[in-house]
Amino acid sequence: MFTRTTSPEFDLVLQGATGFTGRLAAKEIAQRAPSGFRWAVAGRSADRVGQLAAKFGVPGVVADGLNRSAVDQLARRTRVVISCAGPFARYGDHLVDACAQNGTHYADLTGELPWIQRVIERHHKSCAGTNTALVPCAGFDSVPTDIAVHAMAQELGEPARIHGFFTIKGGLNGGTLHSGLALGEDGELVGGKTQTREDPPVFPIPSLGRWAAPFLMAPVNEWVAARTDSLLDRESQGYQVNYSEHLSERSRFRAHTMASLLKLSNGLLAHRAGRQILRALGPKPGEGPSESSIQNGFARLVLLAGDLLAPKLTRQWIWSGDPSNLITVRCLVQTGLALAAGEASRGGVLTPVAALGDRLGERLLEIGAVTVS
Ligand SMILES: NC(=O)c1ccc[n+]([C@@H]2O[C@H](COP(=O)([O-])OP(=O)(O)OC[C@H]3O[C@@H](n4cnc5c(N)ncnc54)[C@H](OP(=O)(O)O)[C@@H]3O)[C@@H](O)[C@H]2O)c1
Repeated sequence: MFTRTTSPEFDLVLQGATGFTGRLAAKEIAQRAPSGFRWAVAGRSADRVGQLAAKFGVPGVVADGLNRSAVDQLARRTRVVISCAGPFARYGDHLVDACAQNGTHYADLTGELPWIQRVIERHHKSCAGTNTALVPCAGFDSVPTDIAVHAMAQELGEPARIHGFFTIKGGLNGGTLHSGLALGEDGELVGGKTQTREDPPVFPIPSLGRWAAPFLMAPVNEWVAARTDSLLDRESQGYQVNYSEHLSERSRFRAHTMASLLKLSNGLLAHRAGRQILRALGPKPGEGPSESSIQNGFARLVLLAGDLLAPKLTRQWIWSGDPSNLITVRCLVQTGLALAAGEASRGGVLTPVAALGDRLGERLLEIGAVTVS
């Protein structure tokens, strides 16, 4: 059981700050943190951490994720850790363990479901007892889905079948590719409800005049929506949600093309030769899209409740910026700032909404990261 004897030195430490999303997250914290906020950048390389710390005029902490005592010290020095050091199944275990044991709130960018399940098994119960919030999936997967589905569930106030349709424009990070490669290597690639349940892979969306296709992030986003449902116990309050997610494409042909591309990429990730091809041709860790592509990206999420032919409620959330980068770091940083501001309503291994309720969505609307209509 954790007991803190002294007040920590920092409000928030950003681990993995020297990577592609980490550097963007540091910039975002510098821009958004309230005055007097005590934060630091952290990473495994003293040189790279030192350079970044100097750039932002904040302290730097050297902590290799594979060194338990280093991350333990990091966790003791702060009230909140947010982490961009992935693949999380490779580098994340010691850090979440240290945060759980030291009562340090934690959020990260993982979408690695098998790893999250292991973190839940190890820490959910004890963190619920110490009111320590561990919040995986605090990036593009799965904050936009989690807050939009929650808002619609509350607006409907009754059990609902909700479909989500994403249109996205953005690039691929080396770090994201390497997390997918690690899942493939470990035999832990997971299919979503989309592949197995009632919806076919490609189907028309009559009320939008568009076509649905399978979405790479659906498995994690659907899982997060379902976990929020259960953590908030919406069923006993009579407004549980059955959520499924897809890409929205303008033609049947494009929808089938996207379905084939997803099948191909999953096939490549699942086999050693395929992974070698992706490793050789894809972006390397530390690489990501250009600044203009980051600024020009966007994500639009349309939620339809009830019958697809005649939905009873339609809501549209429009996010500006590249999903894997600008949207992701805005979501992660607002989650971290909310945790540091004491806005978590409970402890445990939580979804963003189960940890922060309506506050996270309000924060993201307030900074103009997203609009809803
Ligand atoms: N949820 C989302 O929507 C979303 C979006 C984007 C990315 N991601 C995930 O976020 C993670 C980072 O992505 P990225 O594009 O920023 O990747 P990246 O540029 O490769 O950055 C990886 C970071 O991890 C650090 N790292 C590597 N080994 C470490 C260790 N042993 N101890 C501590 N830190 C270590 C790296 O440090 P060095 O700089 O020293 O190499 C770097 O800071 C990936 O897992 C990716 O899948 C999620």
